[in-house]
Amino acid sequence: MKNLRIGICGWGNIATGLYKTILENKDEIYSKSNLEIEIVAIGARRDNPKCVPENVVIERNIFDVLNHKIDVMIELIGGVDTSRELILNSIDKGIDVVTANKAVLFNHGDEIFQKARDKNVNILFESSVCAGTPIIKLLQEELAANTISKISGMLNGTSNFIMTKMEEGANFDDTLILAQENGYAEPDPSFDIEGMDAAHKIGILSSLAFGTSLPPNEFYIEGIKSIESDDFMYAAEYGYTIKHLAVAAIIDNYNVELRAHPALISSSEYLSNLKGVRNGIEIETDLIGKMHIAGSGAGQGSTASGIISDLVFIANKNKNVLKQKNKINKTKLIPFKDIEFRNYFHIKTNSANDIEKSVFKIFESFNVQTDVFEPKNKNNEDDSLIIISKLITENTKLDVINKLNKLENINSLKTIRIEK
Ligand SMILES: NC(=O)c1ccc[n+]([C@@H]2O[C@H](COP(=O)([O-])OP(=O)(O)OC[C@H]3O[C@@H](n4cnc5c(N)ncnc54)[C@H](OP(=O)(O)O)[C@@H]3O)[C@@H](O)[C@H]2O)c1
Repeated sequence: MKNLRIGICGWGNIATGLYKTILENKDEIYSKSNLEIEIVAIGARRDNPKCVPENVVIERNIFDVLNHKIDVMIELIGGVDTSRELILNSIDKGIDVVTANKAVLFNHGDEIFQKARDKNVNILFESSVCAGTPIIKLLQEELAANTISKISGMLNGTSNFIMTKMEEGANFDDTLILAQENGYAEPDPSFDIEGMDAAHKIGILSSLAFGTSLPPNEFYIEGIKSIESDDFMYAAEYGYTIKHLAVAAIIDNYNVELRAHPALISSSEYLSNLKGVRNGIEIETDLIGKMHIAGSGAGQGSTASGIISDLVFIANKNKNVLKQKNKINKTKLIPFKDIEFRNYFHIKTNSANDIEKSVFKIFESFNVQTDVFEPKNKNNEDDSLIIISKLITENTKLDVINKLNKLENINSLKTIRIEK
């Protein structure tokens, strides 16, 4: 039998869910891993009426949890500054760390991992990306022999839920309210719908797969607010759907594409069929080819599952912190302006027939070729012109957009990249 003495810091949604799961699934955990988890102390600056722990010391100052005789400190306070300090203090004391906190790893990962390496202390973070859906140890352990060329996916459940409903015809604002009512979106949803949550997660995955730094250099992040339900209708006509995709791809051993934005993807792709609040990831490797993983990316049960998998890893006396050492900072991000995409252009106008020629001339003037150039006449006041370009750089696209915006009779103009 193996025994781990743990301290839990933070006493919110995930911490209380973890506490309950450790008690309720005790036999399951033991039967699979021979592990008994003993909760020695909880750092809770106030009580949580949803869960009253029994026979556990409560510390009102979370840092005091580190004064107990514990093997692992589980950081579940979220945020960046205090959590960084707590994790570094734990490492200093030689106490292994498990965290579900993507923000602190995105912003201070290199510093934290370096310190953990120096002190030979474990830092595990399975639940920081897609909660319990296994991806971190999959990249670090199971795919160790593979050269990974691309990781892409829907890493934010709120955005995927909203996009799925919009694909069915709903509008953005109503769907966001529905997501909040269902508990899928925070009261302040900006972090999710502006793409930051997915960006944090892909930053961490890129660091694991390609050795990019944490924090990464600045990269392109766009949320889902500009997408409308008629975009899904037009995209479907040409065999696509629209997803919020986070992507990390290595182009040649050295140059890495890192980005998070809405994208048209072919309806025949695996990811296009992943609906609702689920997270889904596609990994392209040399030995396995394309592989997929999907599941719940948030919530008490899912996150507890990932945290407990980290505890099992530690109890098996594995060491985790040395993995990245040889890769760090040897790769660099490709400037976003230099990346080429095919693009979907959606121009709204009072009369698509009237502007068609002038729009075509602008595309011609920048040598931008098109696969689709089609007016959609809905009624006299609500026409659209849909254009799908061949590959163009972001810079060329901006030139085209600037010229288009000078035309009269254009009510709105939107572009969405098409995933390669
Ligand atoms: N929610 C999910 O589905 C999910 C999924 C994967 C990962 N995560 C990650 O898990 C972590 C916890 O998320 P959560 O949903 O449990 O958040 P939460 O419900 O807001 O809980 C955070 C807890 O930390 C406490 N706390 C915050 N700052 C503190 C400080 N300086 N000192 C002492 N206590 C402090 C809070 O205390 P007060 O109540 O007094 O403020 C609260 O008890 C976050 O990093 C999050 O990104 C969450």
